[in-house]
Amino acid sequence: MTNIGPDATERYPMPHHQKLVFLKNIITNPNIEVGDFTYYDDFDDPFNFERNVLYHFDFIGDKLAIGKFCAIASGVKFIMNGANHEISPISTYPFAIFGNGWEKINEVANLTAKYPHKGDTIIGNDVWIGYNATIMPGIQIGDGAIIASQAVVTKDVPAYAVVGGNPAQVIRKRFSDAVIERLLKIAWWNWDVAKISTHLKLINSVDIDALEAVGG
Ligand SMILES: CC(C)(COP(=O)(O)OP(=O)(O)OC[C@H]1O[C@@H](n2cnc3c(N)ncnc32)[C@H](O)[C@@H]1OP(=O)(O)O)[C@@H](O)C(=O)NCCC(=O)NCCS
Repeated sequence: MTNIGPDATERYPMPHHQKLVFLKNIITNPNIEVGDFTYYDDFDDPFNFERNVLYHFDFIGDKLAIGKFCAIASGVKFIMNGANHEISPISTYPFAIFGNGWEKINEVANLTAKYPHKGDTIIGNDVWIGYNATIMPGIQIGDGAIIASQAVVTKDVPAYAVVGGNPAQVIRKRFSDAVIERLLKIAWWNWDVAKISTHLKLINSVDIDALEAVGG
């Protein structure tokens, strides 16, 4: 089959609906990486996406990495490590950031080392993140997962799990563990686009045997 479907380099793959973007084509922050065909659909302005990656400071350098073929709904927020205050001291107030002498409470060389760092935020492939969900710092979300609307994700989400609530809990697994293992081996999102286009019906089916037969 010749190449069909949208062009991954398009900013607006549905020209009549300019609130939906292929996200990688509007990202300006080098600490945000997004895979092909992942889209963001905002009620108002899709450029809100980057504004909703919160407390994401260059001097911390933490990364938000999102895989391919993810669907991200309006209002999804990623809270990054710049949001973290110290928790173990008597006061959580961030005295040191104000300087003018208060920075001397630092026992470590720099502010970045002083405040808790939970690592990068990593979202897999084919992840659907529902309306207004919030993803906390350092969270990893596995391939094929679904994040329910309004979820607050505080723990890593396994591949093909559906999670919801605050704090988000696993509602169910989308497939058995054995099937999930096979799907992760197939990893259809890594196929070239022509092959994906040829086998769209299978990817959109529940016939794992047939999908496996066309290659992993
Ligand atoms: C997560 C979701 C996919 C589940 O759909 P579903 O499989 O049809 O699930 P059900 O409605 O049968 O609910 C299953 C369970 O999850 C719970 N649940 C559903 N949505 C939830 C949510 N947003 N937060 C917390 N729990 C939720 C239900 O209460 C139910 O709990 P129970 O098993 O204790 O009764 C769906 O509820 C959802 O949030 N979709 C996102 C929609 C969205 O934001 N779209 C944006 C446009 S892309």
